[in-house]
Amino acid sequence: MKQLKGRDLLGIADLSPAEIKGLLQLAKQLKTGQLTCHTNKTLGLLFYKASTRTRVSFSVAMYQLGGQVIDLNPSVTQVGRGEPIEDTARVLDRYLDILAIRTFKPEDLQTFTEYAQIPIINALTDLEHPCQILADLLTIEECFGSLAGKTLTYVGDGNNVAHSLLLGCALMEMNIRIATPPDYQPDNSIVQQAKEIAQDSAEIVITNDAIAAVKGAEVVYTDVWASMGQEDLASTRIPIFQPYQVNQKLLSHADKDAIVLHCLPAHRGEEITAQVIEGKQSRVWDQAENRMHAQKALLAALLGCIE
Ligand code: CP
Ligand code: NVA
Repeated sequence: MKQLKGRDLLGIADLSPAEIKGLLQLAKQLKTGQLTCHTNKTLGLLFYKASTRTRVSFSVAMYQLGGQVIDLNPSVTQVGRGEPIEDTARVLDRYLDILAIRTFKPEDLQTFTEYAQIPIINALTDLEHPCQILADLLTIEECFGSLAGKTLTYVGDGNNVAHSLLLGCALMEMNIRIATPPDYQPDNSIVQQAKEIAQDSAEIVITNDAIAAVKGAEVVYTDVWASMGQEDLASTRIPIFQPYQVNQKLLSHADKDAIVLHCLPAHRGEEITAQVIEGKQSRVWDQAENRMHAQKALLAALLGCIE
């Protein structure tokens, strides 16, 4: 884990398979109390979009490590009034030790890394959500004991979460199937990147057939049909996405011991039914809890405070 000190996390593929395994191991040790890490460093949270889980789990993780957190909400800082990223990054670099950013364009995160030396963490962009996928992998490993060879099916919009799942599963040699409506497939460059990572070690399927995709899967995953910033499109998408709802009927095609994951927030009656999210196969609350454990491991590794 020493090699992670001082690094940025912009996409899940910034981490090697060994580094992801190391972070998951560290997360489990921190979760069970087998290991403690301590820091007196300061984390900044610069979020241009709403967040409950990421904001709170990062904050609690940092407090539990002994550090401090500063919420840099754009409505109360100059970034919200248009101060350039280049200037903001150079100034925050002088005060903070690590900075998690939630924003729209992935290029803006890149600019932050060019103008700040401190580790920059992608807390979600329109392209990726790597911190979510670390928690997802932790949850799957806890449920099944291993990752390689398992099949995860994502049903819904080919969005930021789908992108990070594609890359994260490929890195961990998990089979991944993505079922979306025809015009909502994941970004082709991400699919190609995932295929290059997986080579022959995992199956990657991009399809419009939700039932075929779910067949025999051990993990069934979904996310909202309209992400943050796409709220205007939400009502027109409902009929298009209806065949991709994770309901009991679709789930019946999965492995009998399959688990259901959702990054949350969820819209019951749209991408997932209340019966499924509240049902016995749902692991969404463990998954949400694991955001904190996975991010605590990430903070400890990037800050280099593992004893
Ligand atoms: N899953 C997730 O990132 O949730 P928040 O938007 O609440 O942070
Ligand atoms: N795809 C969703 C994920 C929210 C955690 C969004 O970007 O809004």
